[in-house]
Amino acid sequence: MNKRRRAISTDFRALSALSVLLILVALASTYSCSRQAANVVWLDELGPEYAISGWGEAQANKSIDGNPLTIAGQVYERGLGTHAEGMYRIKLDGKATQFSALVGIDDEIKGNERASVEFIVSARDKNNITQTLWKSGIIKAGQPAKEVNVSLDGLLYLDLIVSDTGDGSGYDHADWCEAKIEYRGTKPEPVKPYASQPYVLTPLPGPEPRINGAKVFGVRPGSPFMFTIPATGSRPMTFSAEGLPAGLKLDSSTGHITGVIVKAGTYNVKLTAKNSLGTAERNLRIEVGDKICLTPPMGWNSWNCWGCSVTDENVRQSARAMVEKGLINYGWTYINIDDCWHGERDPKTGEIRSNEKFSDMKALADYVHSLGLKIGLYTDCGPKTCAGYAGSEGHEEQDIMTYAKWGYDYVKIDWCYCEGKDPKVAYKLFGDAIKRAPRDIVFSICNWGRNNPWEWGESVGGNLWRTTGDITDTWSSMSRIGFGQAGLSKYAGPGHWNDPDMLVVGNVGWGPELHPARLTPDEQYTHISLWCLLAAPLLIGCPIEQIDDFTMGLLTNVEVLEVNQDPLGRQADRIVEGEGYQVWAKEMEDGSKAVGLFNLDAYDHKTIRVDFEALGLGGGSLRVRDLWRQKDLGTFDGHFEAEVAPHGVILIRILSQ
Ligand code: GLA
Repeated sequence: MNKRRRAISTDFRALSALSVLLILVALASTYSCSRQAANVVWLDELGPEYAISGWGEAQANKSIDGNPLTIAGQVYERGLGTHAEGMYRIKLDGKATQFSALVGIDDEIKGNERASVEFIVSARDKNNITQTLWKSGIIKAGQPAKEVNVSLDGLLYLDLIVSDTGDGSGYDHADWCEAKIEYRGTKPEPVKPYASQPYVLTPLPGPEPRINGAKVFGVRPGSPFMFTIPATGSRPMTFSAEGLPAGLKLDSSTGHITGVIVKAGTYNVKLTAKNSLGTAERNLRIEVGDKICLTPPMGWNSWNCWGCSVTDENVRQSARAMVEKGLINYGWTYINIDDCWHGERDPKTGEIRSNEKFSDMKALADYVHSLGLKIGLYTDCGPKTCAGYAGSEGHEEQDIMTYAKWGYDYVKIDWCYCEGKDPKVAYKLFGDAIKRAPRDIVFSICNWGRNNPWEWGESVGGNLWRTTGDITDTWSSMSRIGFGQAGLSKYAGPGHWNDPDMLVVGNVGWGPELHPARLTPDEQYTHISLWCLLAAPLLIGCPIEQIDDFTMGLLTNVEVLEVNQDPLGRQADRIVEGEGYQVWAKEMEDGSKAVGLFNLDAYDHKTIRVDFEALGLGGGSLRVRDLWRQKDLGTFDGHFEAEVAPHGVILIRILSQ
């Protein structure tokens, strides 16, 4: 071997040794990299309880209905079963590397073609900028799973969103299968949506007299008149009234005004309430004519709490508590029995009778009236009520006359077993009977918004009509219904109201078992503020006797309730629809505007601004009052802005100086 060849072979050996070394180093580094990247956390391990789900509760390794996760026939072991509108926020530390999942609509909803969702993966970076990482596009039922695999490099928060694609969330059972995050740093953590402890904003009423409630009241000539002067302040209190029309008398110690006015017309009455600390005055305009229910009805309904288990005693307890807890002093009036009071019809006369839980419907009405309150009940335009009791089909006139004979002041008429009927025709039968009844009966149409009742409800005699399906005590239900009222304001006015369903505050449960409404305190302020702005009927859905201080504060804020009861009867419009926030405004009789600044984000506080010009108020300097706190906030030039809690509201009134 010559020198050169030896050199080559030495070089070659050195080279091979180097290559082996390099390969080893490469292998080692691949190994260590893959070991670092091998940290994996599965979405189902992070906990389904942190998911915001538009319906039901998210489930780990199961569909929302509790079945094995299945998309287009393929069963997946792991993942999260959710429902649109859905959201899951995860905190990363900038060192997570990858998110992957297989997404789709669960097979359990087969046959319900309405289902359609979009899965969206977005994230926030170190500069607090949100970027969309991936969108599935619209996914329909039966479609195979779509794979998402995105890099999370440098990101701080990951949002897994399920949108209902704007067509409603019915049947949108959305599965995140085999969903996992790979990471190198701190283990990703789920973020809880923001929730404060209950806090009371409403100032307690003073001991001096203050007259509250509606400033206008409608009655038909010849109908029994009943109005309780709502007044806060320490008792004993003496009431008087100047200019009462002929036929009415006032009980000076209770403030109950009763009697019958024969002559149609407008009567301006000056009410006075007096106690040892002072005197309060307030004008009440009594309109005697065709129209009743000139401000949205305020009261209680048994359904959201007692459901079908409601008894005569439940009704009496809520009525009694309306007085004892003082809610009557703010204008709360109606005590309404929902489904499940009906018994069988009299076989001879066909007259409806109550079931064993309600021994005497007339005696119950007399009792409620004796408290200075009014009473309502429920029936259905079909052969059966929703809960299967006797409905009013074929007995429309007869039933209305029976209710009038018993002394009922309000009837809600449901739409179960009525498919195939023309609601206009079906409801007109009741409306016509109500016109002929010898007493005033508020007519509540409850056909869940079918066939746009806002377009014909008033013409068939309706005083209010449900615009949507049933509410439940979740943010997604309440906010979808409440903010979904946009565009309906032109149909509302004195005597005819859009009804976005009853209130879900306090203890609710639709059956004998109750639980505190599953809305955060801020969400409850939003609920009441929005319903007041919407000039919506306010029907409390919890047992009044169980109301705590927080709920009491929600229901007894005179300045907030004044927005609802304003005599002009306007419903608020959505003025601004921003990214995660909305501004709604309602014109008030005095020319001021009641304005709600709503933060729709579940996690973050937001500064929300309203320009006076957008409200039609010109660009000048205006006085702004915080209605929940009952405090002037000062004068503002051209605009007002405030920080609003997640899912919360700032409710203001903007007045000229
Ligand atoms: C329907 C109505 C509810 C309630 C129930 C009673 O669902 O929309 O408000 O009256 O029926 O069964």
